[in-house]
Amino acid sequence: MSGFTVNDIPSQLGKRAVVTGANSGIGYEAALALANAGAEVILAVRSEQKGNEALAKIRALSPGAKVRLESLDLSKLASVADFSRRLHAEGRPLDLLINNAGVMALPQRQVTADGFEMQLGVNYLGHYALTAQLLPLLRKSPAPRVVNLSSVMHRFGKIHFDDLQLERSYTPNRAYGQSKLAMLMFALELQRRSDANGWGLMSNAAHPGIATTALIANGLGNDGLASKFSLGFVHIFGQSAAAGALPTLYAATSPDAKNAGYYGPDGFSEIKGAPAPARISAWANDVAVAARLWDVSATLTAAKFG
Ligand SMILES: NC(=O)c1ccc[n+]([C@@H]2O[C@H](COP(=O)([O-])OP(=O)(O)OC[C@H]3O[C@@H](n4cnc5c(N)ncnc54)[C@H](OP(=O)(O)O)[C@@H]3O)[C@@H](O)[C@H]2O)c1
Repeated sequence: MSGFTVNDIPSQLGKRAVVTGANSGIGYEAALALANAGAEVILAVRSEQKGNEALAKIRALSPGAKVRLESLDLSKLASVADFSRRLHAEGRPLDLLINNAGVMALPQRQVTADGFEMQLGVNYLGHYALTAQLLPLLRKSPAPRVVNLSSVMHRFGKIHFDDLQLERSYTPNRAYGQSKLAMLMFALELQRRSDANGWGLMSNAAHPGIATTALIANGLGNDGLASKFSLGFVHIFGQSAAAGALPTLYAATSPDAKNAGYYGPDGFSEIKGAPAPARISAWANDVAVAARLWDVSATLTAAKFG
């Protein structure tokens, strides 16, 4: 695994991938690398304009790339359902789903169209519903994979069952930590359920360490001390978005990636470096909490796996 780069991605010819949030940062770099390796890549994005810009960049860098846009807003379950319906109408197998899109540390509590706290709703519940709806297409693939984006911040997260939408106890980092812990727990629980039900998935998770993307500016904004400090920190200590995408690409394509694996950079505190197994917190390994979270999520989203 040591030193995994985009050159180690096996040929993806004949494979079909969905990458959420593929117009920016880690998602864009992952989509570009998959397209370069021959995959047909669906960029699932909420902004048509930003999506078209990403599409044009990928086509310029990777002539002949099989890439296209589909509209997906994870803050609206109706948009998730529309997206899934369009893919089902095509009826083709899906080999890879990368649940990448995310928002971080919004200063004020916001809610999605369905009334979920925004970070839980976009980062986790939208992806939970999407994965459930795409499962029949994934099961048509001979070797389907689902990759969830988590973060080192998952270690500071808790699942607040008594106030899941953080109506009483919102802080930006509590919401982000909860959503990223939920994504890692979901990846591990999905593998357990796939094994128990014979869905045939490889479900794993990845994090980019600290990578220079639009995440902080999108969350905290460009102004303000907290934002300036965070942007400075990322710039000095972090790595490029392309390097940050490598753990995702390892989880998504490497023949050595494991079921229920979790991958991040191998450097100090998993901040930067080459992809390697990453540390999973005790909370994330709690199977009872994971099962309860799954059931709560099924109720909230009305999504059914199977
Ligand atoms: N960068 C890091 O250091 C870091 C560290 C740990 C984990 N991560 C994780 O890596 C993932 C990718 O983030 P990034 O760093 O690449 O940030 P980014 O550049 O801001 O990309 C985030 C992507 O998510 C999309 N998105 C946001 N809200 C959405 C919604 N409601 N529906 C659909 N798409 C939505 C964004 O679309 P717009 O462009 O339209 O806003 C964008 O394409 C996230 O899950 C993040 O939590 C990043």
